[in-house]
Amino acid sequence: MNVNVKEKRIAIFVSGEGTNMLNIIKYFEDRTGISIPLVFCSNANAKALDHVREYNIDAYILNKEDLYNSDKIINELQDKDIDLIILAGFMWMIPDNLITAFPDQMINIHPALLPQYGGKGMYGKKVHEAVIENKESETGMTIHYVNENYDEGKIIFQAKLPILDSDTPESIAAKVKELEFEHYPKVIEDLLLNLN
Ligand code: GAR
Repeated sequence: MNVNVKEKRIAIFVSGEGTNMLNIIKYFEDRTGISIPLVFCSNANAKALDHVREYNIDAYILNKEDLYNSDKIINELQDKDIDLIILAGFMWMIPDNLITAFPDQMINIHPALLPQYGGKGMYGKKVHEAVIENKESETGMTIHYVNENYDEGKIIFQAKLPILDSDTPESIAAKVKELEFEHYPKVIEDLLLNLN
């Protein structure tokens, strides 16, 4: 075994509750060779930040000037030698300069089977309401690369679940979250193991 294999480093971008972020942090807590040195958060009051503090991970509170009109975030990510950027419920658009600086190194999770039920304004409960309204027989979650269009990058992984007559937006949200928790960390791990 090559003992000089470089540690893989993840940065997570988050906006709200951060339950996926916490699940990812816990998954990698005991794994050697993979670390999470940095979380970017678009909301100074986000619940996610409580978890970040608990795990002693550096938190960077984003502002739009830094993200959209400077290279500060790119520099921060490069200084910390980040290999993979994980969006986990991040609600701001990612600027082109960041996508260009990290080609095929930024992924997102979406609570539906893209390309359906994605795009601007499609998040949280709205997605599940639309799925029920359209009498879909199944829904699920999608993990995909991030490109310059909302929810349109190349799909990496999807998991499905059937919609029952008894389902509500809330029950679907809970089941989709379970799928997200089960699969997002594993997909991240696979991608990291395949990076040079
Ligand atoms: C997740 O369900 C994720 O799929 C969704 O936001 C939620 C974040 O929850 N993302 C999107 O809708 C992206 N378009 P969390 O903050 O508890 O992880």
